[in-house]
Amino acid sequence: MPPTVLVLNGPNLNLLGSREPEIYGHETLSDIAALCERAAATLGLAVDFRQSNSEAELVGWVQEARTTRAGIILNAGAFTHTSVALLDALTASALPVIEVHLSNIFRREEFRRHSYVSLAARGVICGLGSQGYELALAAMARLLAKTSGKKPANKKTPAKVKRTR
Ligand code: DQA
Repeated sequence: MPPTVLVLNGPNLNLLGSREPEIYGHETLSDIAALCERAAATLGLAVDFRQSNSEAELVGWVQEARTTRAGIILNAGAFTHTSVALLDALTASALPVIEVHLSNIFRREEFRRHSYVSLAARGVICGLGSQGYELALAAMARLLAKTSGKKPANKKTPAKVKRTR
């Protein structure tokens, strides 16, 4: 079984595709889930992709992940800026955490510049849309390989070189 990464999405991310597309783009959360599954497969990882509008449910899932998942990639939505409970759960999990945001939270309202989640995160990726999730999975594969001592899998077949002669 490949190591499984919990990819957790917070409130209102279920509305992606129709929610402020000028900020969050046109992809739906299902599109992002499919992107993560594809990316994970090439990296030798599995993903457990979830979304909730409830802080309690998110905290519960982080607690469960302590013993069942290899790492956590988290876009906590607005809870990023408010939730000490989520921060405490992430810290207690002792798992590698990577924080992701679709938008560049530093180019927006002042209140979005502070993240509680960042205090528990090994790294933060923001402003790159859904690509941020792919980059987070690649970074997670490296982190996990470092701790297990194994080389990260790269199951992509090398690009064919076209010879023109
Ligand atoms: C977000 C940024 C948050 O400030 C906001 O509350 C979200 C989405 C992002 O992905 O850009 O819901 O996390």
